[in-house]
Amino acid sequence: MASRHFRTATAVRAAAIAAGVLGLLGAGAAAVAQAPAAPKPQPKPSVYADYHPNLSDMMTMLIQPRHTKLGLGIRARNWVYAGYEIGELRGAFGRIVASMPTYEGAKTAELMVMVDAPIAKVQAAIRAKDARAADTAYGELTDTCNMCHGTQGRTYIDIRVPTTPMYSDQDFNPMR
Ligand code: HEC
Repeated sequence: MASRHFRTATAVRAAAIAAGVLGLLGAGAAAVAQAPAAPKPQPKPSVYADYHPNLSDMMTMLIQPRHTKLGLGIRARNWVYAGYEIGELRGAFGRIVASMPTYEGAKTAELMVMVDAPIAKVQAAIRAKDARAADTAYGELTDTCNMCHGTQGRTYIDIRVPTTPMYSDQDFNPMR
């Protein structure tokens, strides 16, 4: 009786171990079945580190908004802001020259040099807080934009003194 009971207990234990092993094997097989067959293709990044804007991009991104904001600052007689923005516009032309040494076979620095004198004139008028001189110099700077566009066969890019306030999220009036 005792030996029979022993054998039964052993058989039960062996069966339990076998079931456990089978269970583990089963779980392993399920995990294998659930694993993706191949890695999913990653979405392409929407920002490319090596993007280089062309001249038209830089004119639209850097020069035009600063030209507009400078005009609005001068119109508001905000000399502190206008003084800041003329420096930014000068810097933006400098960054174009630095990042694009040639444009259609010509040296960009030699093309862009024409803005130096009008920019200096706007800067001097702003420093003097001379409203009339600043308006005149800003008009001359704007003519220079178009002078270059003309010599580059781009008369259709016609820049003017801004007529309506843009950037309604920015107050161009002097601080009180
Ligand atoms: C020395 C030459 C030069 C000067 C100075 C210059 N530009 Fe340009 N600009 C160009 C050329 C060339 C293009 C066309 C680039 C292209 O499409 O390859 C251009 C294009 C533009 C465009 C893009 C047109 C569009 O609507 O997409 C704008 C805007 C512009 N210029 C604004 C200005 C303003 C404002 C100034 C003056 C503050 C200025 N530019 C001064 C040469 C010049």
